[in-house]
Amino acid sequence: MSEAAQPEIPLAQPVIGAEEEERVLEVLRSGQLSLGPRVPAFEQAFAGWVGAPHGSAVSSGTAGLHLGLRAAGVSDGDEVVTSPFSFVASANVIAFERATPVFADIDPRTLNLDPQAAAAAITPRTTALLPVHIFGYPADLPAFEQMGLPIVEDACEALGARHADGVAVGARGHAASFGFYANKQLTTGEGGMVLTGDPAVKARIDSERNQGRAPDMGWLDHDRLGFNYRLTDLQAAIGIAQVGRLAGMLADRRRVAGWYRESLGSIAAELGLGLPCADSGGEQRGWFVWVVQVPPGADRDRTIRDLRAHGVQSKPYLPAIHLMSFYRERYGHRPGEFPVCEDVAARSVALPFFPAMTQDQVERVRVALESVLRKTQ
Ligand SMILES: Cc1ncc(COP(=O)(O)O)c(C=O)c1O
Repeated sequence: MSEAAQPEIPLAQPVIGAEEEERVLEVLRSGQLSLGPRVPAFEQAFAGWVGAPHGSAVSSGTAGLHLGLRAAGVSDGDEVVTSPFSFVASANVIAFERATPVFADIDPRTLNLDPQAAAAAITPRTTALLPVHIFGYPADLPAFEQMGLPIVEDACEALGARHADGVAVGARGHAASFGFYANKQLTTGEGGMVLTGDPAVKARIDSERNQGRAPDMGWLDHDRLGFNYRLTDLQAAIGIAQVGRLAGMLADRRRVAGWYRESLGSIAAELGLGLPCADSGGEQRGWFVWVVQVPPGADRDRTIRDLRAHGVQSKPYLPAIHLMSFYRERYGHRPGEFPVCEDVAARSVALPFFPAMTQDQVERVRVALESVLRKTQ
């Protein structure tokens, strides 16, 4: 078959099987579509899988970050130090609480918030740190923990990751938010979960996700301001089935990542292509995406268009948050503030990556990328 006649390789593809269908049907037949027993069952299954004492299911990773920040006491006029190289939600949630996201540059190897840069950005108004485990690589939590501030972790991309000390990402006791959008390691369509070691944080999040209702009060009695950030029982049912297949799905992602490393590793140095850093010092990535940086000087957006012409989906991932128009206008950010982030963001391309990807498909991506990059050199 000629290259042009082959089906396009998608960027991502969820794994949904008969068990998800069966469990969703059970919920439909039960008549209890929300505030039912599947939500606590999913919380226990997920928290148990990661190794954290408590889980609170919420409607998205963003909702989880928002409630985690509120539980950390962040409010008006505070500053929260975070990474500019992330999905925009990790900074938006700080603005939700009328606090200021204070960005610091990233480590060029891991692409995570650089602890030294973060420490230099702390002021007397800093009330929390919000490190992001970007692309599933564990942020340097032991270094952030030395700084003595509350920590809210953005673990939305990092299910299955592990720190060098062997602790799973999300199991250190801080509020850590995971996301279950359709491209994530585990999906409920939309959804999220905050893990925490603190039962008081769980109680507060459980209340605030449900309009501020205390767990032991009647439906109309509310003792604090809250939101509707609930996950439905239909979503929780999918989540329970997904926890059951999680080890296999993560192993499949790891296998695909290995094929990519082998295939692109053979041409990266010659072409000047940047690859995701390998696990180091006992740290383990929870594979979420396979993101490369096109060589300095190459036209990233044209690379994406040319890959499409070869039947390969890809996307710019991620843009620097401080350079987005809202952040420029609201906080006065300008190019040049965080040079490592800006360079990496301008060259980043997410390639197709999902558990069912075959070695042939990885090879097709390699052939396409190599031909596109050689043409532009
Ligand atoms: C790093 C990061 N933070 C936050 C989020 C937000 O998660 P959600 O889309 O579930 O609200 C995502 C999801 O894309 C993410 O990748």
